[in-house]
Amino acid sequence: MKMKDGFLWGGATAANQFEGAWNEDGKGPSTADMMTGGTHTTPRRITPVLEEGTYYPSHEAIDFYHHYKEDIKLFAEMGFKTFRMSIAWSRIFPNGDDKEPNEAGLQFYDNVFDELLKYNIEPLVTISHYETPFGLTKKYNGWAGREVVDCYTTYCETIFNRYKNKVKYWLTFNEINCLTIPEFGAYMGGGIIPKKGDNEMQLRFQALHHQFVASAKAVKLGHSINPDFKIGCMIAYMCNYAKTCNPDDVLEAQRKDQLHNMLCSDVQVRGYYPGFALNYFKENGVEIKMEKDDEKTLREGCVDFYSFSYYMSNVVTTDKNDKEVSGNLLGGYKNPYLKASDWGWQIDPKGLRWTLNHIYDRYQIPVMVVENGLGAVDVVEKDGSINDDYRIDYLRDHIVQMEEAVKNGVDLMGYTMWGCIDLVSASTGEMKKRYGFIYVDKDNDGKGDMGRKTKKSFHWYKKVIESNGENLV
Ligand code: BG6
Repeated sequence: MKMKDGFLWGGATAANQFEGAWNEDGKGPSTADMMTGGTHTTPRRITPVLEEGTYYPSHEAIDFYHHYKEDIKLFAEMGFKTFRMSIAWSRIFPNGDDKEPNEAGLQFYDNVFDELLKYNIEPLVTISHYETPFGLTKKYNGWAGREVVDCYTTYCETIFNRYKNKVKYWLTFNEINCLTIPEFGAYMGGGIIPKKGDNEMQLRFQALHHQFVASAKAVKLGHSINPDFKIGCMIAYMCNYAKTCNPDDVLEAQRKDQLHNMLCSDVQVRGYYPGFALNYFKENGVEIKMEKDDEKTLREGCVDFYSFSYYMSNVVTTDKNDKEVSGNLLGGYKNPYLKASDWGWQIDPKGLRWTLNHIYDRYQIPVMVVENGLGAVDVVEKDGSINDDYRIDYLRDHIVQMEEAVKNGVDLMGYTMWGCIDLVSASTGEMKKRYGFIYVDKDNDGKGDMGRKTKKSFHWYKKVIESNGENLV
């Protein structure tokens, strides 16, 4: 079927995974810049002081900083209507709390937006995508410190004013719900490094509260700067199926859905904490410190649309003997009806349809899929071609289900496939886990000439966009 006119087809990226130039033109280090490379089996490390001789994938990434014209030209060739990217906060405020913004950083994004607009590509900007200026981690333990709310608000005010005539669509925090996940979430989402003896859970949920307040303030501020702004939340949606019809499994699946999927969007879309969140805090001894106006701020800063990432579904069980398999942010259990990617993420297009229906039923506001894709090993053939039929199959199957959800009444604004150009994997730091329509010649150790090459999926997606979702063959 054809999507509605103006449907935002495109691709998605994040600054720390593709820009590189980590310390050029006045940029300060971010939390992502302190993360080493890793693999599927060796986790990335956080090094509060950079180690000599250690490889940090974000430092050069795929060097979009110097290749943006060439890359945007390729996006335009595919017919992108939108391009999701993030601004590196520490490119604008190198330490996070500087008095004045860094003009060279602001100019870089002006150049990128101008280049996109030249091809009629609408920028969709994530304000904070898994990176916090490292200065704020050192000074305030990242988002655990209330002070960071004001730093973020100043940053938003700066970029909203600067780009108010170039950018209409904004997302306040990437996958804000990762802060509901122990350990991983604290640093990736909150820039927090817990000390020995700290109550990690308390720090995480306090940081999450600070992000809720910051997000609400940003929404209100953004609308006052430009009433046409559309500002959304962004949730890593982890679709959970009960393993059996044992009511305990069903309740456990619901509990996970509430805690990991719905808690954040309930606050960001409805403007208040749901009962199950308050109950969860009570049961776990978490006490959220609120300032006088916080509840009012949350109510006044509800988002305009709901956006989410979707890669896979999980199976939930109360059977303690079952073995966990890996997944995006959270693992789950094996689903015998599904195949998995090379990284063990269980591929489930119908789960996307279920998720879209579920979200729209609950919130009744426009929805956008801002990440979806397949991380896979690509092979460059002798003749230079890259035949990624597996990626085409994955995307086609998901788009088919997305269209079914639209037929079912979901108000879907757009679809940006994740990692439209190969970039550094967030979870493993690898280049080998490729998502792109565009291949980048670089490997896990940073070797390669950084040359760009279109894959078979590039030409396929071009036809999808040209036909507004009708031609999927
Ligand atoms: C999402 C993140 O969780 O998944 C992205 O928003 C990330 O930053 C994407 O890259 C895919 O995950 P990974 O670990 O395969 O890069």
